[in-house]
Amino acid sequence: MMKWWKQSTFYEIYMPSFKDGNGDGIGDFAGITSKLDYLKELGIDGLWLTPFYPSPKVDNGYDISDYYGIDPDYGTMADFETFIQEAHQRGIRVIADLVLNHTSSEHQWFQESKSSKAHPKRDWYIWRDEPNNWESFFGGSAWEFDSETNQYYYHAFAKEQVDLNWANPEVKHAMFDVMKFWLEKGVDGFRLDVINFLKVNDSFQDNPYDEEQIHLYDKDQEGVLTVIEEIAEFVHQYPDKFLVGEVGSEELDILKQYSGLKKLDVVFNFNIGSMATFDTEKLYQQLVGTEQAYDSTQIPTLFFSSHDMSRHISRFGGDEDRAKLVAALMLTAKGVPFIYFGDEIGMRDWITDDISKIKDVQGIMGYQLALHAGKSQEEALVVANEKSRDKSRTAMQWNSHANVGFSEGVPWITVPEDAYKVTVEDQIHDSESMLSFYKNLLKLRKEHSSLQFGEYEYLRNVDGMIYFVRTNGFEKILVILNFTDQQKTLEIDADINLLLSSRRTKLDRGAFVTILANEAMILKGDIGNDLVKER
Ligand code: GLC
Repeated sequence: MMKWWKQSTFYEIYMPSFKDGNGDGIGDFAGITSKLDYLKELGIDGLWLTPFYPSPKVDNGYDISDYYGIDPDYGTMADFETFIQEAHQRGIRVIADLVLNHTSSEHQWFQESKSSKAHPKRDWYIWRDEPNNWESFFGGSAWEFDSETNQYYYHAFAKEQVDLNWANPEVKHAMFDVMKFWLEKGVDGFRLDVINFLKVNDSFQDNPYDEEQIHLYDKDQEGVLTVIEEIAEFVHQYPDKFLVGEVGSEELDILKQYSGLKKLDVVFNFNIGSMATFDTEKLYQQLVGTEQAYDSTQIPTLFFSSHDMSRHISRFGGDEDRAKLVAALMLTAKGVPFIYFGDEIGMRDWITDDISKIKDVQGIMGYQLALHAGKSQEEALVVANEKSRDKSRTAMQWNSHANVGFSEGVPWITVPEDAYKVTVEDQIHDSESMLSFYKNLLKLRKEHSSLQFGEYEYLRNVDGMIYFVRTNGFEKILVILNFTDQQKTLEIDADINLLLSSRRTKLDRGAFVTILANEAMILKGDIGNDLVKER
């Protein structure tokens, strides 16, 4: 039987920013539950929730201090259970973000580990007498000196996120217990955070430099795939559970090693999703490259925004037509799509002129390191804005009230005054809105098996237009994405119907089809292998 996730579209919810249910200004489970009907109507099938466990939130929940609880900001275990039940009742699956690589420095395990060199949990983390040159991914050294025991501990991210020692089998078993707990609570799988970091090279050799540090020995190390196979085997004992891995790499050669038979079900294809500026040819090359590199047990993922990156609408120039083209690609090309909350209404990035408003540890570190390197406050603020991931973490814009859905002066994140005010309220009844376009795309995807799992009959990039045919059985769908500002003409020698366009409702055609500038078109018909000719 076809696995459910192969036919699913996921939606990422950044916990504090989606919907506040109790008026404290922080998103929570009660809030998300109250929006399940919205999500159902949007047409998504699965939710990925960023970490919701108790955490000091140095890195907003990616620093877990208790793997068995719910952070009080997000509600209670009962709220979580109600949410899962209500989601399942609507046919929406839920995957939990799980951080296996590191714990918060406040976690009991680390407190014990740091209490003495002789403690049985000392070896649960990575302790060394001397640091090497490894840098943290947030900047600065990856080693922190502990004056009580006179050793350094390793942290690939903030010093409050301490790397576990996965070479120690006790760590693995402790984490299997954690996974068991949440699987039994009813989650449908996990998004595994920085999963290619689980092993570091035990030679602890210095990393080389090429202008900046090359992370040669601190990720993608020998043995990591074995651990991943063990995790996959463990989780897949439970029927129908899904694993998506965050493999922090844009290299297809690396990414492809982590998914497929006996491994993770899918990984995030940063090679496709994380282009800094829009480049049709580069995008096309990555789609083709992925298609060629993956074997028949591997499926790509399609995403262009997340809580770690700029929203694609802003990154690619702020243009709505372009954002609709990207959405059309995400929801019709081959792969499992992950929509980032708010992209469906075209929410923009947020940039600030006030450093004290930045909450993200990466932004704050960037600022401090820039000042330290002799930059002025103004220059350091530019660096902070570049590095800060708060840009895509502002609150979901449900309506146009002063703080768009969140109360004033709250501890976490209000929509800034100068936010680009697109709202669900304004778009929900507008058939030409971004939201309606997403809904239409999701509906089409549901109605056409070839859009869910059809193979490419062909995939081309001609003159700034990416187009492809996907087919399943007799069904053939032609998707044409004109990423240029010019109108184009195609000769299509087949009987076709327009299913959806981002720019019009009707197609007038003879032998030639006109593609408007920046138009996404989805057509259905008896389209043969070479029936599309460029004009
Ligand atoms: C992942 C998360 C990111 C976090 C990092 C460290 O990349 O997506 O938000 O900062 O891991 O846990």
